[in-house]
Amino acid sequence: MLKNFVLSFALLAAGTVQALDQEQAEKAAEIRQAVLEIAGWNVVPAAGMVKQKIPYDAERFQVHAERIAFSMTMIPDAFAADTREFVLHTEALDGIWEDHEEFLRLAADAKEKSATLATVSKSGDLEQVTSAFLDMGQACKACHDKFREDN
Ligand code: HEC
Repeated sequence: MLKNFVLSFALLAAGTVQALDQEQAEKAAEIRQAVLEIAGWNVVPAAGMVKQKIPYDAERFQVHAERIAFSMTMIPDAFAADTREFVLHTEALDGIWEDHEEFLRLAADAKEKSATLATVSKSGDLEQVTSAFLDMGQACKACHDKFREDN
């Protein structure tokens, strides 16, 4: 049972399993939402610093930027499972798997922009950090506009 679970998960993560059951589809949705929740959780304090609502702390900012960047590396794997045929609690639109190439392109862009933010955040220069943060925000938004249900 456990072995089966681990194996199916390994295959799922590798994107090689097409035939999911309801339970696996729910798990896949849970995982991708968790990945993005981690991104959002770290964007909130980073945005607060950029908007100067909380004091800029270069070291803390860098921690948040690195976590966001790491979460963005997981998007392709987290969305490898095509869950279109299941009824799920999700904001993921079918377009993700209808035009997966475009989805992956936007994911790669967000990965790159968040990696840049993590690098720039080492400078501790709020002006540069702000500009890199806004660039990254555009990349998040570009994907949400196209592939996430409005809420
Ligand atoms: C390539 C596409 C893509 C990129 C890039 C992307 N997102 Fe998302 N995001 C989605 C999709 C699709 C969902 C809905 C997932 C679901 O409900 O199954 C989502 C959901 C979310 C959620 C809600 C998670 C939850 O609790 O259900 C947050 C928060 C979020 N994204 C933040 C971000 C941030 C911050 C960035 C940029 C740093 C980002 N996203 C980049 C596609 C993307």
